[in-house]
Amino acid sequence: MKIWYGGDYNPEQWDSETVEEDIALMGVAGVNLVTINVFGWAIIEPREGEFDFSALDELIARLGAAGIGVDLATGTASPPPWLTTRYPEMLPVRADGTRLSQGSRQEYCPSSPVYREASLRLTRALVSRYAAHPSIELWHINNEYGGHNSHCYCDVSAAAFRDWLEHRYGTVDELNAAWSTTFWSQRYDSFAEILPPRVTSTHGNPMQLQDFDIFSTHELMECYRGEVAIVRELSPGIPLTTNFMGFFKRADYWTWAREVDIVSNDAYPDPADPDAAAYAAMNWDLMRSLSGGRPWMLMEQAASAVNWRAANQPKAPGQMRAWSLQAVARGARSVLFFQWRQSAGGAEQYHSAMLPHAHTRSRVWREVRELGAELQGLSALGADLDVGLNGLGARVAIVFDWPSWWAIEQEHLPTAHDYLRHVFAWYLPLWQNDVPVDFVRAGDDLSRFDVVITPSTFTMTDQAAESIDRFVLSGGTLVATYQTAVVDEVLRVRRDGYLGPLAHTLGIWIEEFTPPAGADLWEQREEAPSVSFRGPAGRRLMGSSWAEVLHTDTASAVAEFDSGPANGHPAVTRNERGHGVAWYVATQPDREAMRELLVAIGVTQGVEPIDPALERVERGGLVFLINHGSVAARVRDHGTDLLTGDREPEWVPSFGVRIMSNARSGLATPSDSDRDLAESTIPGAPA
Ligand code: GLA
Repeated sequence: MKIWYGGDYNPEQWDSETVEEDIALMGVAGVNLVTINVFGWAIIEPREGEFDFSALDELIARLGAAGIGVDLATGTASPPPWLTTRYPEMLPVRADGTRLSQGSRQEYCPSSPVYREASLRLTRALVSRYAAHPSIELWHINNEYGGHNSHCYCDVSAAAFRDWLEHRYGTVDELNAAWSTTFWSQRYDSFAEILPPRVTSTHGNPMQLQDFDIFSTHELMECYRGEVAIVRELSPGIPLTTNFMGFFKRADYWTWAREVDIVSNDAYPDPADPDAAAYAAMNWDLMRSLSGGRPWMLMEQAASAVNWRAANQPKAPGQMRAWSLQAVARGARSVLFFQWRQSAGGAEQYHSAMLPHAHTRSRVWREVRELGAELQGLSALGADLDVGLNGLGARVAIVFDWPSWWAIEQEHLPTAHDYLRHVFAWYLPLWQNDVPVDFVRAGDDLSRFDVVITPSTFTMTDQAAESIDRFVLSGGTLVATYQTAVVDEVLRVRRDGYLGPLAHTLGIWIEEFTPPAGADLWEQREEAPSVSFRGPAGRRLMGSSWAEVLHTDTASAVAEFDSGPANGHPAVTRNERGHGVAWYVATQPDREAMRELLVAIGVTQGVEPIDPALERVERGGLVFLINHGSVAARVRDHGTDLLTGDREPEWVPSFGVRIMSNARSGLATPSDSDRDLAESTIPGAPA
């Protein structure tokens, strides 16, 4: 399998000589795929209905002559000024009524018929021109759907929302029941009275907000589906994708993933974040899970710093390579960047690129070149990399659920929640122990897993709860954390209590929520924990964010709160059911408590990793060793490093990577200079 290497290329910014140099340097760097025309609309349709493909024709021909494949974007992500000037009603409107102006990008209301018509006309013109072009390897639909414009509150969106609700509920009485509108005098007499959840005096209606989140994903997908239909009609046989944004709250990627030919992802972990490597791994695992274990694409990453954080730290020497190979280890079949050459002007001029402002006299360029050479060598080992591509054989699954994310971060709840942080708090110790994890939905077939974790899976249908119960009955281990299955799919608390059908699975019932004041999961890291409880081994452990008064039914208490309003009540319970076990964790354990719990649950051994920064991923017959730390880590696997040919290497240097194989003795045909480069990055002794 060829590994695609390259990135977004925006040559509209450059003159012909620069493009010539770009293509020559792409050859030097081993680039074999570029994404073009992402922001090309204003050039290929300079005036309404007038198309000019001459520049694109020439570019694709030049790239083709150099053997560089094309991921051709439909170019619909950034409407040109003539369009928004002529049809200002297509500009998106915020919840407070502010209509956004042109002058940036992605300025369109996803429900706008004007936008949809214009974008589909552009797509048809473009795809019919290049449908069978031999250089086109992939269609790139739009770009990062919803990145800036996921929710629009304009009158056009309001009408579309009403239609969507009518389709969903059939009658306004059904909607009134689902939205609990008898409370606060919100009863609707007809669909015509309903608006999007614009700014209100205080808390909005929870289910109106939730439905608007579901509707907003749907509207973006309708834009996507319109373009996809054209590509499938005119260019069958060429795969298509649209780039996801990892854990992006405003679009439910479980739904999207079913409608792309290959899952692709943009990822910008923050080099300043000490947990960035784990967070990156969690992103890659989500992508592999979304694509059902099949290879996915790393569509965009930064060569070094981004330009959109308050402070933008560059990647450390070797860090870009380490994170790239980490993505490959976890299923990526491409390593692509935003963007090829760093812009001289425009809003992203300080965002790093493969070819920086400092040009080839730069560390970033050298690392880009070296990685390109390495990936070519790895591509030659295609057969080995294909082994194990149906996932990493994970036996542990974490439920990730967008409706729960939306619902649990609403404003009217007992405390503020950070859903993603809570999921990450459970992912992190598993990553630190090299336990492979897949992400799943609650209603999925769980039979291939030993352990399923539901971190605050707040909304749960009865069917999903029943499927989880079957998993436990047949021998699985469930770990449900606080605020799981609190409400049904229309966010109503069930008459039989907070856990609904899961109460039987867990063997407990909940009397009252008692979250500590000022609880915030993120803040807890460095600060005093806000609840304490006795752990399974009798030691005093610390948690934060949540506590509750719960009672055991058939379960036994494994740990108890020993302070606060829940004092004396279980903090952790364990219920044997059928052939399986169901655990419930009523707080956010801190890192030490988490370690102890995972041992009790049987997921980890409790042995402190010797090199906590050394990540080990087994894939097929290969073992990837990635050192995210600042000192060298010892190799404990036997074999030969495919990247260097080193037999039985002893060390992985700081930010170094080794790909260990017993059967192979080195990359297929690295040139002498490549071998020199590779060897210079992997010394035989600690860095
Ligand atoms: C996103 C976009 C790119 C670029 C990068 C910058 O991924 O798709 O066009 O703006 O962010 O990080």
